[in-house]
Amino acid sequence: MCGIVGYVGQQSALDVVMAGLGRLEYRGYDSAGVALVVDGKLATEKRAGKLANLQAALAEHPLGASGTGIGHTRWATHGAPNDRNAHPHVDCTRSVAVIHNGIIENFAALRAELEGRGHELVSDTDTETVAHLLEEEYPRSGNDLAEAMRRVSRRLDGAFTLLATHVDAPDVVVGARRNSPLVVGLGQGENFLASDVAAFIEHTRDALELGQDQVVELRSDSVVVTGFDGSPAEVREFHVDWDVSAAEKGGYDYFMLKEIAEQPAAIADTLLGRLESDGRLRLDEMRLSDDELREIDKIIIVACGTAFHAGLIAKYAIEHWTRIPCEVELSSEFRYRDPVLTRTTLVVAITQSGETMDTLMALRHAREQRARVLAICNTNGSTIPRESDAVLYTHAGPEVAVASTKGFLTQIVACYLVALYLGQIRGTKFGDEITSVVRDLRDMPDKVASVLETMEPVRALARELRDATSVLFIGRHVGYPIALEGALKLKELAYMHAEGFAAGELKHGPIALIEDGVPVFAVVPAAKGRSVLHDKLVSNLQEIRARGARTVVIAEEGDTAVEPYADQVIWIPSAPSLLQPLLSAIPLQVFACEMASARGHDVDQPRNLAKSVTVE
Ligand code: AGP
Repeated sequence: MCGIVGYVGQQSALDVVMAGLGRLEYRGYDSAGVALVVDGKLATEKRAGKLANLQAALAEHPLGASGTGIGHTRWATHGAPNDRNAHPHVDCTRSVAVIHNGIIENFAALRAELEGRGHELVSDTDTETVAHLLEEEYPRSGNDLAEAMRRVSRRLDGAFTLLATHVDAPDVVVGARRNSPLVVGLGQGENFLASDVAAFIEHTRDALELGQDQVVELRSDSVVVTGFDGSPAEVREFHVDWDVSAAEKGGYDYFMLKEIAEQPAAIADTLLGRLESDGRLRLDEMRLSDDELREIDKIIIVACGTAFHAGLIAKYAIEHWTRIPCEVELSSEFRYRDPVLTRTTLVVAITQSGETMDTLMALRHAREQRARVLAICNTNGSTIPRESDAVLYTHAGPEVAVASTKGFLTQIVACYLVALYLGQIRGTKFGDEITSVVRDLRDMPDKVASVLETMEPVRALARELRDATSVLFIGRHVGYPIALEGALKLKELAYMHAEGFAAGELKHGPIALIEDGVPVFAVVPAAKGRSVLHDKLVSNLQEIRARGARTVVIAEEGDTAVEPYADQVIWIPSAPSLLQPLLSAIPLQVFACEMASARGHDVDQPRNLAKSVTVE
């Protein structure tokens, strides 16, 4: 989810690129950089931290005037956020500069090849390999940068938007895209490239949307688009009628809506590059050795809020796949209960921001007790991963809305990858079983996307229930943490009472809350997965319906058993029972978001809350 800007024209390329990067600032980032072609040389500057650090460096060391340039704000995936790993990256001869958004899955093999041919790579990034590949392909392509980019792109696996500029081609910027956004801004005597239109709509609102596996050759007076094979490409021209604020949200009213919509891609990106062609999992950044992981005899997950709910879901998978006892603790409670920790305890800290003080203090306590700590985090280089023995990053991209959505789903996916990896190295899961689960996980982005397409009845229900005073949520097995998450979303966004229960607990007290018209969301387990649980939850539906509850049932398509007891059914695609939370969470996110909007609340910045709670 990096920010990318390219420019060719009569204006100062540096001014246009820096202003464009500023427009992308909302995406969050941890470093930034620019590259210009000035008097036949590459002029580059890059700095860790906010854009202001880069601006200060540029003020101190001006790069000179140029009409051709590229710029980048980085949301780190591979390699810590520092000056060395910031983009742009250059080749051995400093002839070509490259910036990149996405994940190049096969970069390790490419890097080894390049180093074997004598290239010296200086960063930890996947991007740098592209600069050196272009160095090799440029002369083979008749010094045609676009052809060199096509040849390199054909060798890359994964998701990428690439921009490159070359000292021998001072009037051109070349771009390539696969599974990652890139749009062209069409100006008068100038043209633009960017990861989203917010970067250039102050200059032009006429744009081209590039398609999959395409290369674009941008000059001040021409834009040529081809496929990776060099064939002419069809492109869609459109006019941007958003204002800048709407453009930053991708046209959505709120960041939360944009981030809900990004969940299919976030799940796909979190899976990218972690499954070898032979079906084995490869979790590079884990840093804990397989032998250390084989010694683990207890797992304790520590987290807060939504991340805690992800941990509750992960517990089911971890214990089922690894047979390692797994506890899940609220970070704020963990260290005060004097937990039993040993060298063979693995404490897993789940955190989107990587800065949550409760979780950081829990992690420090665990390390003092000699336990090993693994962070599952969405923010590369943040405090909690830095203080952990190991880390597995989610690749959800910046999550701006305070209410976590794509962060939550990718935390679940990352926890599943860790559980499968433990099963793989400890022999509790055979390779074909792991491959089967990963295949099911890879099907989830499309299934999530299909749920997102059917959410209008959920939004209508939220508007209808706008004046409700309380909403209850029930679930069983992995549906129970989803009930808790649905209640949390409603509390934090609609400022209304909401409570989640294990459905089996209703008869032990909470059923007294049921009276005529009380809205109850019920998350029904997969019928074929755990049919005993399914039937028990259907019985719970009967019990509450008999007492007047208004039942809103989330159930798998075709599960007709729920219909007699449902005032409304929200259908979701079938999925293995442990993966169902990735689908059942969506309607509850959408419901809470729409309820907040219907109540006129600030959806992205709910009252009293912060995106990262850095106090205990
Ligand atoms: C999620 O919707 C909430 N904003 C909150 O519960 C959040 O999940 C919690 O504060 C933990 O944050 P972290 O994942 O950044 O550690």
